[in-house]
Amino acid sequence: MLSVSCTSCHTRFDDDGTYYALCPACGGVLDVDVTAERLRAVDPAVLRTAAPEGIDHYRDLLPLGGPFPWPSLGEGNTPLVHAERLAEAFGIDDLWLKNEGQNPTGSFKDRPIAVAVAKAIECGARALVTSSSGNAGASLAAYAARAGVPAWVLVPERTPSQNVGQIALHGARVVKVRGDVGEVFNLGLEIARAFAWTNVSTTFLSPFPTEGNKTVAYELARQRAWTSPEWILVPVGAGPLPYGILKGFRELHELGMVASLPRMVAVQAEGCAPIVRAYQQRRPVEAWGAPQTVAKGIADPLRGYEHDGELVIDMVRRSGGTAIAVDDDEIMSAARLLARAEGVLAEPTGAVAVAGAKALQRRGLVRPGDHVVAVVTGSGLKHVEGLSADAADPPTIDPTLERFVAAVEA
Ligand SMILES: Cc1ncc(COP(=O)(O)O)c(C=O)c1O
Repeated sequence: MLSVSCTSCHTRFDDDGTYYALCPACGGVLDVDVTAERLRAVDPAVLRTAAPEGIDHYRDLLPLGGPFPWPSLGEGNTPLVHAERLAEAFGIDDLWLKNEGQNPTGSFKDRPIAVAVAKAIECGARALVTSSSGNAGASLAAYAARAGVPAWVLVPERTPSQNVGQIALHGARVVKVRGDVGEVFNLGLEIARAFAWTNVSTTFLSPFPTEGNKTVAYELARQRAWTSPEWILVPVGAGPLPYGILKGFRELHELGMVASLPRMVAVQAEGCAPIVRAYQQRRPVEAWGAPQTVAKGIADPLRGYEHDGELVIDMVRRSGGTAIAVDDDEIMSAARLLARAEGVLAEPTGAVAVAGAKALQRRGLVRPGDHVVAVVTGSGLKHVEGLSADAADPPTIDPTLERFVAAVEA
């Protein structure tokens, strides 16, 4: 029998068909238990093969009951790109990009949402709701469409129209809310309670979506011939992605499939860095006043769920990693460099870990020969106008060679 346990009071609950949110005993964050018995049931051959058909390939390590058709869209199986030019520019010996922008809806959120939607259906959900800065909402809209379940998505008022359009096209009901990500999140909790809808938000609100993030670790280990990189950098708002990646590597370690564990680096934007601030000052996490950054996906003040930040700090420390902040200029130049030097188009938030790799190197933390993986969490296709003035206003010419030459010279 699957079970979940509270990370605060350690009470254990059977996985009895409840779509668990926070701990029913103390309100702490729940985590799915990985028992020796569960690991014994895993077929290593499954982990050794790629999963282009979607992450239900890793079902033995995900919190789903018996045979059950997943609403899969081929999520996961994303490329690991060797970034030799970026490595040279940053002075790092070996740098790789896990390009999560290649997921079906353009971000890593397809992994946690695929698990959340499948689990919610297994638990008998009537309707799904999430609060989102854009990408999780797009994922929910697509997976709910695939599953044939109604979905509501709450986004902050200033969410880019490309994100809102993507969500609406999949048939989800999208509502813009005057407030930041934290206020939107807290409204989502209230709505789910009032209408008995299942809240599939991808913070640490529920233990289930985080499990989908473990699949990044299974893929990375396979793509790196069963070795762990020394460093994995991840953009962090609430932080379940690096938490899930380390959990996945721990499972592989217990299964004897990797010999060591990576150091995790949580990268935040200077304009919204509640976790980095608490980490550096060795103080409890406090909500961030007014988030102000181009990295909208991680502009999360953690207001009302500061404990998410404590979990991330604990995870980072246990892994021997660190938490760092990068400013908007560093984020935008990382996004442009990624596009020009490596051909990888990332949204600003998606490039945060790359900016973080440069900052990590500058602090002297990357040793010669260290393998570094930056997780590029979201595609730039939804954000091209914000990324480049050239994209917004390219020259327009008459169809003659002279005009073309003139445009090139200009
Ligand atoms: C592209 C991208 N990267 C990273 C994150 C951070 O996710 P989390 O808030 O789960 O830490 C988000 C969240 O929406 C995102 O959209």
